[in-house]
Formats: sequence, C-alpha cells, structure tokens
Amino acid sequence: MHSQNFGRTGKKVAVILVLVLLVISAGIYGRYYFLGGDTPAAPAPAVKPAPKPAKATDPVQLTFVSVPRAVAPAAPTPPAAPDPNLVSFEKDIKPLLSAACGSCHGANRPSGSLTLTSLDAALKGGKNAGKAVIAGHSDQSLIVLYASDAVAGHEMPPLRQRATHPALTADQLALIRNWVDLGAQ
Ligand code: HEC
Repeated sequence: MHSQNFGRTGKKVAVILVLVLLVISAGIYGRYYFLGGDTPAAPAPAVKPAPKPAKATDPVQLTFVSVPRAVAPAAPTPPAAPDPNLVSFEKDIKPLLSAACGSCHGANRPSGSLTLTSLDAALKGGKNAGKAVIAGHSDQSLIVLYASDAVAGHEMPPLRQRATHPALTADQLALIRNWVDLGAQ
C-alpha cells in the first residue's frame, strides 16, 4: 500500500517535470521565432536546439536547461571597396620615388624633364614620353613600365647605373601600381 502511494506520487512528479520542461523549451523557441535577431540584415543567430527534455526521473538534467541571453549578431562585414586614401602620394609614394628616382628626377634639371618628387609634376610627365602617370591604369603608366624594366632601352633607373641607383623592389612597385590604379591621388 505504502509503496503504491509512493509510485503514484512519483508519476505525478514526473508528469509535472515534463510539463515544466515543455514550457521552458517552448519559451526558448518562442524567443527566437517571434523576436528574431536585432538586425534584420544579419543572419539569424545560430540557435542551438534546446536540450531534449530530460528524463523526469533525472532531476540533475534540469541544470542544462537555461534560457539563453539574446545573442548579439556579429556586425556585418562591410564590402571591400577600394579606398583611394589607402595609398597617398605624399605619405607612401613620394618617399619611394625620391629615394629611387629623385637624384635624376628631382626638381632641379630633371632627366627627361620629368620631376617625380611632387604630385603635380609627376602627373604632368616628361618632355619625350609625355604623361608618365595615367590615373587608374598602372599598365599604361610609364613610371611603372620603366621602373619594372618592361620597356627595353628605358629601364629605370638606367641599367648601367644600377650599382649606385638600385631598382625599386617588387613590393615598392606593387605599392606604386596600387596607387596609380586607385586614382593616383
Ligand atoms: C641615374 C639617373 C636616373 C634615375 C635614378 C632614374 N632615371 Fe628616369 N630617366 C633618366 C634619364 C637619363 C632619362 C632620359 C632618357 C630616357 O628616357 O631613357 C630618364 C627618363 C625617364 C622617363 C621618361 C621621361 C620623358 O618623358 O622623357 C621616365 C618615365 C622615367 N625616367 C622614370 C623613372 C623612374 C620611375 C625612376 C625611379 C624608379 C627613374 N626614372 C630613375 C635617368 C634616371
């Protein structure tokens, strides 16, 4: 008799626990279904499936049921648009050209009448070849073509003077290409 009573009570407890778990998990799902993320554009936060309702006879499992805090969605990464300000003549290019080209293409009696130590002068170009920088087109800009030894007879610095006037490094050339392609500002 006594044990039968205990059995009934046990069943009642089990049923109540199951109901409590159902209510809790309904609450968890409800939060995400009806509230969603903060930003509509952001993907809905990954919702871990709520733990399966624990066996009612095992109350320890209850500790795993917790209402998650609203997870702040990761800020959407901005599209990688080229920023012309990333490479500037004054900050990035002038030091390179001054060091590698400045001794012959400075302001004072520059070779080929091409001064490369100021933006205006560099854009203006030289007397024979004309424009040495064509904004947006590193593949047509003479400073790039000459400095990468792409034009035979016009390698810059001139080949015979490389001992005292070393060529630009590949990294430096890449930076100059970038600067031209981004608009040569
Ligand atoms: C040691 C001297 C010297 C250095 C250093 C030098 N150049 Fe020259 N450059 C010349 C001479 C001389 C000419 C004219 C003859 C020619 O065009 O080949 C010239 C001409 C040019 C021209 C053609 C100008 C025109 O319209 O006639 C360009 C472009 C040029 N150089 C780019 C550069 C660049 C870029 C650098 C640095 C990476 C550089 N040069 C370094 C001596 C030099």
